[in-house]
This record gives sequence, C-alpha cells and structure tokens, in this order.
Amino acid sequence: MPLWTRLLRWYDKNGRDLPWRKTRDPYRILVSEIMLQQTQVSRGLIFYERWLRQFPSWNKVAIATNSQVIHAWAGLGYNRRALMLRDIARQVVADPSLRGLSSTKQSRDKGSIRFARNDMEDAWIKLKGVGPYTAAAIATFAFHERTIPIDTNIRRVLGRLLFGTTYPQPAIDDKIRANVDHVLPKRGRFFDVPQAIFDLATTHCAKVPTCATCPMRTVCPAAAKFLSGRVRVPKQMVKKAVESRHRDKRFPDRIYRGRILRLVRENGSVALDEIGQAVDVGYDATVDHDWIVAMVGRMEKDGMLSYSDNRVTLPINV
Ligand code: ADE
Repeated sequence: MPLWTRLLRWYDKNGRDLPWRKTRDPYRILVSEIMLQQTQVSRGLIFYERWLRQFPSWNKVAIATNSQVIHAWAGLGYNRRALMLRDIARQVVADPSLRGLSSTKQSRDKGSIRFARNDMEDAWIKLKGVGPYTAAAIATFAFHERTIPIDTNIRRVLGRLLFGTTYPQPAIDDKIRANVDHVLPKRGRFFDVPQAIFDLATTHCAKVPTCATCPMRTVCPAAAKFLSGRVRVPKQMVKKAVESRHRDKRFPDRIYRGRILRLVRENGSVALDEIGQAVDVGYDATVDHDWIVAMVGRMEKDGMLSYSDNRVTLPINV
C-alpha cells in the first residue's frame, strides 16, 4: 500500500476540521500559513477569523496602512509579518495571474501541460516575502499543483518515513523532493497529503514521537529506532539564529521591540524619553538611551513606527 493511502485513511478518520482546509482561496491560505509559522493552530484560529473579518480580500488588505495592519496583528508577535502579508497582497493585486486569473490558468485548462509544471509555485516564489515553503503551500492548497511544502513538521515526518532519519535537518529537503512519487499520488488528493502530515506531526510524530500507537509504525524505518529506546533527543536540532542582546539585558532585543510597539499601539503617541523606563525595569538612561534610540530607529526604517518632535507614533498614512 502506498504511503499516501495509509496517511489519507488515517486523516479521513482523525484529521482536524480547520477553516483554511475548506477553502481554495489563495488569500485565505496565505493568511493561515503566515500565522501558523509563528503560532499554534488553536491560537491561530482566533487570529485567522479576526483578521479575515477586517481584511476579507487581497484588495482590502492591499490598501491598508502600516498602522492598520499593525493594530490588526496585535498579539501575534513578529509584527513585520503583518507588513509582509500586506506587501504580498499589493504584489498580487498588481499581477492577477498570481490569483490564477489569467493566461496561466487557461493554458492549464486546455489540458496540454497538466501535472507537467508547477506554474503557480514558480510565480509565487519570485515574490518578495515568499519563501519555498509558502510558495509550495499556496501552489498545492489553492491551485492543486503537485508539490510538497516542506516546513519543520513535514521535514520531520517525511525524513523519518522515507529515510529513517530520526532528527532530519534542512539538508534533507532536496532528497524529500526527489521522492515526491513516494509521497504524493499522481492524481486525486495529493493536496490532502501534507494536511494529513501536519496532523500526524502533532498527534504522533512530534519531536519525541509516540510510535507505539502511530498508524505509520509498520512502514516507518524510524519507528523501530525510536521503539528500541536508544534514540536520544538532540538538545538543539537546528542552530538558532544569534539574537542581538544589549549589555546584560534579560531578553533579546526582539522582546523589547515588541514591547515598544505595544506601548505605542496602546498609547497612540509616546515621548521618546519615556520609552526606556516603560519597556525595561532595569533601564538606566546613561547606558541604555542609545540602545532604545537605535531600536526605535530600526523600527522606523522597517515601517513600524514614526518619529518626529521627540514623539513616537505608529506610521501615519503609509
Ligand atoms: N501548519 C502549517 N500549515 C498548516 C495547516 N494547513 N494545517 C495545520 N497546521 C499547519
């Protein structure tokens, strides 16, 4: 029995009922994928519905200001993603073929190159702010192109299932792609296979897996290794990016930038000199002032804040 048959049988009985699985609207799929890059499904659900009420379409989000999207993203973290999502929408509005609304679709519909090419994946990967995972996710979930989106979950499950690698690293991705014919059926529900894998990754194939009850255990070369009890969990699977941190501050700068944004979001306008004390209990102006100014400067450059007359606000009208 092919891997996908086993996966899909399990998924049909045990898969989660999630709103972005009931749509092929590339906009809704993009929103879900960007949110799920940083938050769990349970939290993502709340933000997903909230965001879509405010910005139901490409056109609505494309005309939103920085300030509007930063407000709407409040609580999700990694605020630059909100701007990135809006900027992707602007690119999509400028090029309708990215929504499957032009020549690409027509030529596919004539039937001459079905399954032969992944036109949408190729077009989406060229956009600023879209990486290989997101391009593949949009291509398969919205446009039913036959491709495997590989994030950490999919890599872990397929690295184990295909190669018996207990803790696969990103270098395995090319090998996974080369094995597409062992993962996805040639036709039919290939776009459901990654969804099944997401669910398997949370229920059984977690970092520390529960192979004894996994539906794939009889065909998974990693299961025997895990069940032997001799596999050790690596402490740090992927080297974390080095985060900048000021002096002996308790947290990396990223945390303080998040606090600054929240302060400004909630107060509308804040004096530059009041920010340090408000975001850091150990603030000492003699040694920390320049640090705060540098962070505000960077956030202004990223389009997240405006600064003038010694006051900091959300960006005005951009
Ligand atoms: N993580 C990333 N994409 C997902 C999806 N579509 N469903 C569940 N988890 C995900």
